[in-house]
Amino acid sequence: MTASLAAQDLSSRPVPLTAFERRFKHPPGLVVLFFTEMWERFSYYGMRGLLKLYMANYLFVTAREALQGCSQLSTPCQLVPGDPEQVLFWPLIRGMLPSHPGEAASLLYGTYTALVYLTPLFGGIVADRWLGQRRTVVVGAALMAIGHFVMAIESSFFLALLLLIAGNGAFKPNVSTQVGSLYAPGDPRRDGAYTIFYMGINLGAFICNIVCGTLAALYGWHYGFGAAGVGMVIGLCVYLWGQRYLAPDQLARGQAAASAAGAAAPAVPLSREEKRRVFALVALCALNVVFWAVYEQQGNTMQTWADERTVWPQLLGFQIPSTWFQSFNPLMIILLAPLLDIFWRWQQRRGSEPSSVTKMAIGCVLLGVSFIVMIVGAQVIGVGKGSPFWPLFCTALLTVGELYLSPIGLSLVTKVSPARIVSMMMGVWFMSSFLGNFLSGVIGLLYTRWSAEAFFVLLTVLGVGAGIAIWLFNRPLRAAMGHS
Ligand code: GLN
Ligand code: ALA
Repeated sequence: MTASLAAQDLSSRPVPLTAFERRFKHPPGLVVLFFTEMWERFSYYGMRGLLKLYMANYLFVTAREALQGCSQLSTPCQLVPGDPEQVLFWPLIRGMLPSHPGEAASLLYGTYTALVYLTPLFGGIVADRWLGQRRTVVVGAALMAIGHFVMAIESSFFLALLLLIAGNGAFKPNVSTQVGSLYAPGDPRRDGAYTIFYMGINLGAFICNIVCGTLAALYGWHYGFGAAGVGMVIGLCVYLWGQRYLAPDQLARGQAAASAAGAAAPAVPLSREEKRRVFALVALCALNVVFWAVYEQQGNTMQTWADERTVWPQLLGFQIPSTWFQSFNPLMIILLAPLLDIFWRWQQRRGSEPSSVTKMAIGCVLLGVSFIVMIVGAQVIGVGKGSPFWPLFCTALLTVGELYLSPIGLSLVTKVSPARIVSMMMGVWFMSSFLGNFLSGVIGLLYTRWSAEAFFVLLTVLGVGAGIAIWLFNRPLRAAMGHS
């Protein structure tokens, strides 16, 4: 690999070859983006982990509770009186929601997690057309850092959510495309780079629950949100520091575009062939909606299962809280991603590595199959609570499915999209998460209406069905993308 790196035509390289790259096989820009995204996801998931309980148990009720876990303090925590009317816009928004604070919180949670994936489309367009990826990422990171700190002011809760939604829109698609921009077209290291980047995402998602959740439980909600804000500021500093290691921006008009992805620069309309590729990507993203709708049950019905139907053990006298369940998926990503990378490279050497589209089909099928574990678990447990084995084993399998689909999809977008609209296309990729998150809320309603077994059968059928659909479209999609 080292020799082939050195031998590559230098003019086609988006970033200069460094000693770091000779040694570690990837450009140093990947390290910058890894830690930027790690801290950003630390802040995103750290805040998200607190959000629902903060609304349901604290902000929207008059008898406010501390987060569970505070009972482990020497001074027992008490309920304090609160006044939801002080929260700006709450009287207006309350009218649109169910009256039960838990249901209202659930709906707002679903809307928030969906909207953070809607705005990347606009963030991508802004970067492609006007600001370029770097400046848009900086704007997004700053907006999110401010948003997290504004969360500490109770009355400004909705303003904080808006800042976070806008900030994520500017940040997420552009930091994601910048990973691909580090590599020349056709560079086989790109999929691996996204897998490494994805590990950064999940390192952040893993530690945040432990840091923010514990701070919130021991000292109060706002310390948890504050820690998320500090994480975002660290991410922004890493990003600003690492500018010189990143590839030039890819813009719809002239300037730096040519060097980054090797594609044409002027603001010309898309050719027929390019339109075909864009259309194929959009079709693939549409099929992915089902994946995310099933996948996102983790934070929704699976978290409820972890809470109500699972007995968690004690660790050295400390009762493991059910919310730590959310950290298991990121942990599995970190453990499994390197193994899969080795497996795929082994397949590549034998010439049997599946195409990106086939990998995504496999990912969907695995996601569906993982819920068979829950069907069996529901049967075995019957009523009451049961072993953590079921949700944990299901999550482990589901994570393999995620690794087959999500980082591969990110990489595919940067390979197939015309370079001058690559950030916007990344926004389209995240649109499938936007729709998926909404749909997951709708599907989640069935959890209380159907038997657990029937519900998990539905998830299995949806996952496997989406996988088969992607697989059926494999040939036309690959043909349209011009990529094998
Ligand atoms: N879990 C990944 C992240 O937060 C992917 C999420 C998604 O694309 N919906 O980046
Ligand atoms: N697995 C989720 C994502 O990759 C947390 O970020």
